[in-house]
Amino acid sequence: MVKQLMGILIPFLFVHAAQSAQPSAALGIYTEQQAVAGKALYETHCAGCHGANLMNGPRTSSSLVGNEFIQKWGAKPPQAGSTQWTGLKADALLVSMIKTMPPGTKKPVSAAEQLSILTYMLQRNGFPAGSVALTANSPELHDPKIAFQPSVGNVGREQRLLVWVDRHGREQVVPAPPRHYYLPRISPDGKRIAVEVHLDKPDVWIVDVQTGSMRQLTHEGTNRYPAWSPDGTRVLYGSVRGASETSQVYWQAADGTGTAEQLTVGPYEHGPQSWTPDGKTLSFYEIHPTTYRDIWMLPMDGDRQPWPFLRTPYLEGGVEYSKDGKWMVHTSNETGRYEVVLRAYPDSSQKRQVTSDGGVEVIWPKGSKEIFYRSQNKFMAVDVTTGVTIDATQVGPPRVLFEADYARSPGSRASWDSIDGRRFLLLKKAQ
Ligand code: HEC
Repeated sequence: MVKQLMGILIPFLFVHAAQSAQPSAALGIYTEQQAVAGKALYETHCAGCHGANLMNGPRTSSSLVGNEFIQKWGAKPPQAGSTQWTGLKADALLVSMIKTMPPGTKKPVSAAEQLSILTYMLQRNGFPAGSVALTANSPELHDPKIAFQPSVGNVGREQRLLVWVDRHGREQVVPAPPRHYYLPRISPDGKRIAVEVHLDKPDVWIVDVQTGSMRQLTHEGTNRYPAWSPDGTRVLYGSVRGASETSQVYWQAADGTGTAEQLTVGPYEHGPQSWTPDGKTLSFYEIHPTTYRDIWMLPMDGDRQPWPFLRTPYLEGGVEYSKDGKWMVHTSNETGRYEVVLRAYPDSSQKRQVTSDGGVEVIWPKGSKEIFYRSQNKFMAVDVTTGVTIDATQVGPPRVLFEADYARSPGSRASWDSIDGRRFLLLKKAQ
């Protein structure tokens, strides 16, 4: 029986090896189905912090792809005459994920689900899928011994264009070069765009809407999550720089003059969100070990003493305000998936869930009677007429504006923007 099997297998392996420069690369240690399931779990439980491309963590140390990452987990580059990376301790990585991720005491992800997420991470790191499922007992968990694609540091660095899209889905490209753009924000006067550009590290750049000319605004450390000051003279961002290992909120003049000023301090990650319409208070997020992503307020007049607006064991984010500043929308995963929530401000107790079918990346352009959000590939609009109380507030049925595969931000922060509700700035994969 064994002999017969070898008789079938050996010619197969031989032919295969003859065709492939890296024979072992074909022998994956997990199945494609596992990685597909792992991707869905990753998007629900991990992407909010680590990014859809696994490399947008709150700090550079939390990238889950690339040579640096796998070397941290024991992998060694190929020796002379070999194409094979060896020594990855996928078992230690798995145990660490089960014990520590997501941060906090509540662990919504089972060990079996983490195994599935691990297969997706292996795939994104260049380890191919095969025909045998990975289990907790697979010997390959300790050193998968699979050829690893050295170019993988660029996995996820999709080249994108900045595009305007009208309410019918018609596109107009901003004449700026393709880059790995992320999280574009339109200046209040509509003439400039602040956007993350990921080269060897993420930085904030300013793009001229008319000409497409670009200027790098930040240089020190890593700089993410751009936002404009209400008067359009400054740009805010979350930066890891100096002695700090956590991202903190900074702002600096948008024209590049002067120096950056740090606005938040603390042991946890901070990033800017949005301003109350009176321009007096900045909301920012904090990633806390037990209450996850929370919403804080930083009054910019007076003593600048931050106060917690919403601290729950769920992931909240994506704050945008109504014109009168008495209401806000944000996203929350309280129900088990991300939904858009309308909430009173500054007393956070009154709230209403706006979506019931999942909703992320909510935006509420200044003065607009509609809020906008994304649901899968659909870009949606909902009429909201705010009242004095939540019961006096009317929320219409969600309508699809347009449907297309624009770059996503599966966490909370919108990867699109609009200042008038008539045209939207999105990121499109460059052909
Ligand atoms: C609330 C935010 C958050 C969520 C959600 C989250 N992580 Fe993390 N993760 C972090 C941070 C912050 C670090 C960096 C920790 C450090 O450097 O001490 C990290 C580190 C890691 C690391 C170690 C990275 C390295 O360089 O060795 C792995 C692996 C990881 N996370 C996997 C996951 C997985 C898998 C999930 C989903 C099940 C997940 N994380 C969900 C915030 C998060």
